[in-house]
Amino acid sequence: MNHQIKKIGVLTSGGDAPGMNAAIYAIVRHALKSGIEVCGILDGYKGLVEGHIVPLTYNDVSGIMNRGGTILGTARLPEFTDAEVREIGIKQLQKNQIDAVICIGGDGTYMGGLRLSEMGIPCIGVPGTIDNDIPSTEFTIGFDTCLNTIVDSVDKIRDTANSHHRCIIVEVMGRFCPDLAIRSGLACESEYIIYSKENYNEQEMLQTIKENQEKGKKDFVIILAEHTVPIHEIEKVIKENTNLEPRCTVLGHVQRGGRPSAFDRVLAVRLGIYAVDLILQGETGKCVGHFGEELVATEILKANELPKKQAQEIKPCVKKI
Ligand code: F6P
Repeated sequence: MNHQIKKIGVLTSGGDAPGMNAAIYAIVRHALKSGIEVCGILDGYKGLVEGHIVPLTYNDVSGIMNRGGTILGTARLPEFTDAEVREIGIKQLQKNQIDAVICIGGDGTYMGGLRLSEMGIPCIGVPGTIDNDIPSTEFTIGFDTCLNTIVDSVDKIRDTANSHHRCIIVEVMGRFCPDLAIRSGLACESEYIIYSKENYNEQEMLQTIKENQEKGKKDFVIILAEHTVPIHEIEKVIKENTNLEPRCTVLGHVQRGGRPSAFDRVLAVRLGIYAVDLILQGETGKCVGHFGEELVATEILKANELPKKQAQEIKPCVKKI
């Protein structure tokens, strides 16, 4: 136990993700039980710099486990890369007698935590993002819920595609990570998944549609990962080269909301407790992750150097069905 740590701060930063509240719940409850106080830093690094910091009690986190979003609020603050801006944040931490910070978010959030730790504030990162784009963990908090939201939505889209004998192109989030597209595509019987610019092959897509039509298939769903191929480009190709009536759906921010799945809640609780334990052991500049059943801590510097995730184990299935 690190006796220097009497009070910790917790913040959520970057895009919100279902399960962030479950992580906050676990951090607050476990810290209080370990005899240390907790403050919530509102709206990520922006709130830190502006001094929006509130104490968090046992009751403040009651009943938040099943709520989507983050009770602390979140923001993106590109200016936090500036050391002078971080100095202001550190002064706010000192003013509130906060000895260490747990930062929940994606890789941008981790970088903020790393820079703070280099300036003497112990920080631990917890992976909270729907994108699943953090290589130091198998799954990020929020990914499973988001995947299920996409699957629910595409099941509905399939009903109408089926009734009208249409081809519907569905764009999903994920930033530059293909995991949401690949896994939702497989789970929804998508006829074609475009998860990267490189894997998109116009002729292959048209051929797949043709072969399916010859077997009697009338409805088609194409899953498209954002930031790969413009959705209306695909629509045009379908319109000009098939007898199908294409429609486009960009799922958008519905993918970020909703009650977290049981998987995300359990993951968040385990990672939140682990993050507090690491702080109490005097660790800093690390991020927590989960592989199989094991919890792991990786230096943020090393985590950022790991190759980006490419859903390797799932990818081959795309071509086999
Ligand atoms: O990182 C989460 C995420 O939802 C990405 O999937 C998406 O590209 C981005 O955030 C959208 O950001 P914003 O909510 O700022 O439009």
